[in-house]
Amino acid sequence: MAELTRRIRVTDIKQKKQRGEKIAMLTAYDATMARLLERAGIEILLVGDSLGMVIMGEETTIPVTLEAMIHHTRAVTRGARKALVVADMPFMTYEASVAEAVRNAARLVQEGGAAAVKIEGGRAVLEVARRLVEVGIPVMGHLGLIPQSIHQLGGFGRRARHREEAEKLVEEAAELEQAGVFALVLESIPPELARRVTEQLRIPTIGIGAGPHCDGQVLVSYDAFGLFDEFVPPFVKQYARLGELMVRAAEQYAEEVRQGKFPTA
Ligand code: KIV
Repeated sequence: MAELTRRIRVTDIKQKKQRGEKIAMLTAYDATMARLLERAGIEILLVGDSLGMVIMGEETTIPVTLEAMIHHTRAVTRGARKALVVADMPFMTYEASVAEAVRNAARLVQEGGAAAVKIEGGRAVLEVARRLVEVGIPVMGHLGLIPQSIHQLGGFGRRARHREEAEKLVEEAAELEQAGVFALVLESIPPELARRVTEQLRIPTIGIGAGPHCDGQVLVSYDAFGLFDEFVPPFVKQYARLGELMVRAAEQYAEEVRQGKFPTA
C-alpha cells in the first residue's frame, strides 16, 4: 500500500465505508513506530491502552493512567503527520461523570494531539459519547470483549456467543451510531454477528478477532509483528517475528563487544 499522501480525518474513514474500501488500523505507542506505520499506509493509529500490557508489562489494561496515555499519544502524534490518531480513554476516566469525561478527553486531544478518542461499552457510555461528539471530540466505540471490564467479564474469551448478549450488542451498536460515534471496534465476537452489525450500521466497524466481514481490521502491533510473545491471541496473524530478530541482533552485539570486535578502530 502507498504511503499516506494527506492527513486522514474521521470524515475520510466514514467515506471509506460508503466506497466499500477496507480500513487498516494498528496500535502505536511511540513516535518511531508511528512514523513507520504511517509510511506503510496505515490509516488509523490507535494509541491503545493495550500499552499497559505490551509496554508496561501489566497483566491487564486497568492500571493505565490518563497521564500515561497523554505521554504516549504525544509521542505518536509527533511521529505521525497524516494518519488519524485515536487515543484510548483509560479505565475510569469517562465513567464517573460526563463532565469528567469531557475534561479528560480534552486533555488527550489538547495535550496528546489525538484527533479522536475511543471508549469501551454500550448503554453505559452513551451519554458520554453523545456529549463528547457535541463538544467537538470525535469518538470511536468499542463493543464485544471490552478489556477494561475484565474483572466483570471474567476473562479474555469470546463474547456474545449467546442470543441474549448478541441481541444486546446489536442494539447497543445502533445506539452508539445514533449517539454520533464515527466508527466502532468489535472485539472477539462471532463473525456472523460482526457481519450483521456491519450491515446494519452506516458507520464503519473495525474488527479484532471478529472475522472478515467488518469494514476494517485492527491488531495490536506488538502482536502482529511478533514482539509480544507472552500470550498470542488465537486470532492474531504474526506478519513478522521481530522479537526473534531483536534477540539475535542483541546476541550478536554482545558477542562482538565481548570479543572486542565492536567497535573497530
Ligand atoms: O487497547 C487496544 O489496543 C485496543 C485494541 C485491541 C482495539 O483497544
